[in-house]
Amino acid sequence: MTAFPQRVFSGVQPTGNLHLGNYLGAITRFVALQDSHDCIYCVVDMHAITQAVSVWGGPDELKKSTREVTAAFIAAGIDPDKHIVFNQSQVAEHAELAWVFNCVARMGWLNRMTQFKEKAGKHRENASVGLFAYPTLMAADILVYRATHVPVGEDQKQHLELSRDIAQKFNGDFADSIRAVTGGEEFFPLPEPLIQGPATRVMSLRDGTKKMSKSDPSDNSRINLTDDADTIAQKIRKAKTDPEPLPGEEEGLKERPEADNLVGIYSALADKPKADVLAEFGGAQFSTFKTALADLSVARLSPIAAEMRRLTADPGYIDTVLVRGADQAREIARPVMNSVKDIVGFLR
Ligand code: TRP
Repeated sequence: MTAFPQRVFSGVQPTGNLHLGNYLGAITRFVALQDSHDCIYCVVDMHAITQAVSVWGGPDELKKSTREVTAAFIAAGIDPDKHIVFNQSQVAEHAELAWVFNCVARMGWLNRMTQFKEKAGKHRENASVGLFAYPTLMAADILVYRATHVPVGEDQKQHLELSRDIAQKFNGDFADSIRAVTGGEEFFPLPEPLIQGPATRVMSLRDGTKKMSKSDPSDNSRINLTDDADTIAQKIRKAKTDPEPLPGEEEGLKERPEADNLVGIYSALADKPKADVLAEFGGAQFSTFKTALADLSVARLSPIAAEMRRLTADPGYIDTVLVRGADQAREIARPVMNSVKDIVGFLR
């Protein structure tokens, strides 16, 4: 087996508001990995346009959301001077490699993707070709940097498995050519998902069995990163619960999805295990717990919201960060893409 140097890659779609689920499920982990890994964090604007224009909001909205996700990365603590932060469409190698992967991946593989089935709904014939091919572009995002580790939420595990299948099939189909061009055995690493932490799945505040989502029609179902303190407190006060007081142990959260979710959010924001949260609040009424959760949420989120406001007030700065990030990303992607061309047999 070829040993590949460790590299982290992940992406966030610029569609609508970022919420607590994005923050706890993804962005805080991006921040944590900076100390141990070389990281590349990408605003995946090409993935955003796979759905109907009405979903992503058109060109002005896309630019605004792209800058907003970038601002959230920086506000949350990602350092664009030490790691690479950029938007996908500025590095053409993503699309180039995605085409090759479209010819490696099989229809049958993509037909199994649950996210496509969910997003396409009943009208599969009406879904864009891009939505169907979404996972091959995602594989290209990762593999054009030969990234080895990918922090993602549970819901992206299937796409990561597909990326591994694509890498493996490419390595196998072109084995002789890879040997001739590079002298090595495998060309692409098999990227590993990094799924960890207590609140990888933040659920809706209105329904503890559904994921917190920007597409939920009720704004009360989510806490947006840009919500002010009053709005955060109000949404938590209104959050669905059950009539029982909080249990003293984790066992007691089973079959209580709303209670489990709020305790999970508290635990992630306080950065301590659920058991510790329950040791503190076991037996308390939700009214008490919700006040503490609201205070904690405001304390953790309002500095980020303030920094995001400061950063987005200066789009020139954000755009400079993205251009510089794209230049750095291209420096890694270009030689990889050149080798892919040689391996496949494209003259250059
Ligand atoms: N599909 C991911 C999501 O919806 C976003 C994404 C695109 C991504 N390309 C990626 C995540 C590459 C990790 C790596 O969350």
